[in-house]
Amino acid sequence: MTQQIAVVTGAGGGFGAAITQALLDVGYAVAATDLNAQALHDLRAHLQQHPRLSTFEMDVTDAASVEQAAQAISQSMDGVITVLVNNAGIIGRAYCIAEKSIDLSRQVIDVNLTGAFNCTAVFSRYMARNKYGRIVNIASVAGIWGAAGGAAYAASKAGLIKASESWARELGPLNISVTAVAPGICKTNMLNKFVDEEAQMSADEAKLVKSIVPVGRWGTPDDVAEVVTFLATCKTNYLNAAVIAMDGGMRVGTL
Ligand SMILES: NC(=O)c1ccc[n+]([C@@H]2O[C@H](COP(=O)([O-])OP(=O)(O)OC[C@H]3O[C@@H](n4cnc5c(N)ncnc54)[C@H](O)[C@@H]3O)[C@@H](O)[C@H]2O)c1
Repeated sequence: MTQQIAVVTGAGGGFGAAITQALLDVGYAVAATDLNAQALHDLRAHLQQHPRLSTFEMDVTDAASVEQAAQAISQSMDGVITVLVNNAGIIGRAYCIAEKSIDLSRQVIDVNLTGAFNCTAVFSRYMARNKYGRIVNIASVAGIWGAAGGAAYAASKAGLIKASESWARELGPLNISVTAVAPGICKTNMLNKFVDEEAQMSADEAKLVKSIVPVGRWGTPDDVAEVVTFLATCKTNYLNAAVIAMDGGMRVGTL
């Protein structure tokens, strides 16, 4: 049977590493891509140079870089590209009144939204050749609720949800299903940066988490990887255009 290749963006980060590991565990060859070469180096070491893991430097905001990485993946790896996980993302705090926030806002939208456009455009072409593909986009509950001080982040994730639904319509006839996962708060480098700015959260974190998350804990990269793996390996193409919020039930409150 032909080896299936899963492409993961932002693979050197918290979710990306867990998703890479989970997809290797279920038998995929994984093309782990990231802007950060050191993070890819650490990932290879963490996964003990797994024989089905290949790493590629790729900047999702740069269409030429994505095209180059796609060519390198298809030339150097055995198999067919069947899965894309658009996971690369950044968070940026930019208050609309207090700061001149437009540069940061643009950067957030460029990575989180334009990045997914670049990758989907290139990798869906590879999937279309075999009339099979699964694209999973990592959005956020911020894309459903909004986020104070995070308008660009929330807008980028809301945009990614609507892009997922649109791509699901376009690519569905080619047997490429497109879904989105909208995680709640999970402890990764990204969140630590965010939380550092909120001193009161670290002071009484246990109380806080119990008061806002029904399951009584923050999420983990493994929680997200579990759902992404389900979507990536799902045999039926009838699961298309789904948006799965996974936030421990935070959205419905703890009352
Ligand atoms: N951590 C959370 O609580 C949380 C919640 C909801 C959604 N998310 C989303 O999950 C995804 C992963 O987040 P994480 O928590 O693992 O963050 P992280 O900071 O640990 O990892 C993000 C990775 O993306 C890479 N990256 C950044 N810009 C890039 C670019 N231009 N090209 C390629 N790679 C780039 C970084 O190098 C990093 O390795 C993001 O899209 C984020 O918005 C995170």
